[in-house]
Amino acid sequence: MSQTRLRLGVLISGRGSNLQALIDASATSAFPAEIALVVSNVANAEGLDRARQAGLETTVIDHKLFLDRAPFEDAITAALEAAGVQLICLAGFMRLLTPGFVTHWRDRMINIHPSLLPAYRGLNTHERALADGVRFTGCTVHYVRPDCDAGPIIAQAAVPVAPDDTPETLAERVLLSEHQIYPEAVRLIAEGRTRIVNEHVLISGTSLPPSTINPKV
Ligand code: GAR
Repeated sequence: MSQTRLRLGVLISGRGSNLQALIDASATSAFPAEIALVVSNVANAEGLDRARQAGLETTVIDHKLFLDRAPFEDAITAALEAAGVQLICLAGFMRLLTPGFVTHWRDRMINIHPSLLPAYRGLNTHERALADGVRFTGCTVHYVRPDCDAGPIIAQAAVPVAPDDTPETLAERVLLSEHQIYPEAVRLIAEGRTRIVNEHVLISGTSLPPSTINPKV
């Protein structure tokens, strides 16, 4: 593996299908990032098996063994830094993060969320989208800020809602898009093509839509 690849730390709590998308992407030599460490806060997370099968380094840091969030997060940071991680990818990591941790990793931590943010932050996104009768939902990859599911948007995909969708069928369709945009967002960052200006992500080779150039917006 080339040493110039961006070193990723992937944080998971469960199934790990987005981790799998990153594993698959980084298995191709043209992909400019590699997974240095997978951290799970759940010992029996399915994602850990995926990581081990791919020969990746893994560690379990169980939040239940810590009295407070801060020492739990300090343990995560220590593990990531020991592995030389340059970018954290939250991939279904279901713990709220303290401002201290988020600030430490500011602009070096991204998340994937199953909605078109800023709509439907938090849990049960598909149930809420269906209850509202929206025609489109989707997914977002964004830099992480202290507020839950908030921060500069790197990539989004819109996904149509079918009349007979259930939360499960919608989740399944959105997940397919998640698996496409997460590696793509990582690629943009690893290629040095993203810049955050006024909390908007500029991608080199493209320009912001006019409404986001206006500093009053
Ligand atoms: C994904 O749908 C991801 O977008 C969501 O959890 C799921 C994890 O699935 N994340 C969030 O809701 C974060 N707010 P996975 O473990 O198969 O990647």
